[in-house]
Amino acid sequence: MLKSFVEMIFKALTKQRLEKVKMVTFGYFGFESLVVGYHIGLFDFLHRQPNSTLQQIKDYLKLSEGSVRALLLACCAFGLIVKNKKRGTYRNDVIYDRLAVRESPNNILPMLDFHQYIIYRSLFDLEKSVKEGRNTGLELFTGPGNTLYDRLSVHPDLQQIFHDGMQCISKTTNPHFVSNAKECKRLNHLVDVGGGDGTNCIALVKQYPNLKATIFDLPTVCELAKKEIQKEGLSEKISVHPGNFFEDPFPSRMDGISYCHMANIYGREKNQLFFKKCHDALPGEGVLMLFQSVSNDDETGDIAAGAMSLYFLAVATGEGSVYSVKDNEDRLKTAGFSKIKHLRLPFNHALITGIK
Ligand SMILES: C[S@@+](CC[C@H](N)C(=O)[O-])C[C@H]1O[C@@H](n2cnc3c(N)ncnc32)[C@H](O)[C@@H]1O
Repeated sequence: MLKSFVEMIFKALTKQRLEKVKMVTFGYFGFESLVVGYHIGLFDFLHRQPNSTLQQIKDYLKLSEGSVRALLLACCAFGLIVKNKKRGTYRNDVIYDRLAVRESPNNILPMLDFHQYIIYRSLFDLEKSVKEGRNTGLELFTGPGNTLYDRLSVHPDLQQIFHDGMQCISKTTNPHFVSNAKECKRLNHLVDVGGGDGTNCIALVKQYPNLKATIFDLPTVCELAKKEIQKEGLSEKISVHPGNFFEDPFPSRMDGISYCHMANIYGREKNQLFFKKCHDALPGEGVLMLFQSVSNDDETGDIAAGAMSLYFLAVATGEGSVYSVKDNEDRLKTAGFSKIKHLRLPFNHALITGIK
């Protein structure tokens, strides 16, 4: 009796492990099925007309039966859609009905395009990156400089895809950051370093009406930010400061710096130098806020932290990694900051703050 119970548990575990092996080995088919289903409008169609038959889907998509059958099978296998076996009809899985549908306000479609057109392509040669310890994936993107950000400056379409993806990530993750960035109440001038298209800065200025802010980013990105700031009617409150933040001076008269989704991009040494530069430039009681994803404390996850570490290595800079809270805090301390504290936020994010 006991033996058969143990055997049953063992079998169940083996099955579970086997499923995990399949997810890892075939995972890229799941990702591609998601991207294709989104691009051709499969999820949009099933959102509007759930419980559609294969024939109805085929007629709508105007594709061959072979293509539709293969895609539906893959989408079912990866849990993107669900088949009603009795009726033979299909509907979106509840999660993807929100994440992969254009009209859903919480969709992650811009992030999928960022992965598809920028990250995924450069991962094909991950082995080379790992062996050579540099971002060999950058070879896919012609242009100046040694980072993805430099190269994107001469690829406006890809730059837009990148920043739409970052906007999606920031909008999803920043509400908890913004409501907890209480230091902003006493600040006059915040500089959002590597502020991108201004998504985080705009949210902060809306939450803290006394705050003025400046986005410090590369020149072509500042142009994108200007458009977003204008759209929001915030040109009086937010300005841009085009330049390279490692080489160029900060804007004057700042008393706070935010560094959102930034510290993971660069290696420890560069971060250390940059935090020291921030400390030197801030006045007494000035604040540095890091808002970003973090690895778990023992550096074994989560999956997004592991994946994005490889992205930083393979293409972004060749030197970044998703760091733990402690790692970031140690670096702020070494740079001279005190009263260092952190707050863990949803989506494996954290807000880490230091005061000069
Ligand atoms: C990962 S994105 C973060 C964007 C934004 N902070 C957010 O959270 O959505 C990195 C940003 O840093 C900028 N960046 C990277 N290295 C830079 C440098 N050396 N000088 C200025 N901007 C830089 C990029 O252009 C890009 O806008």
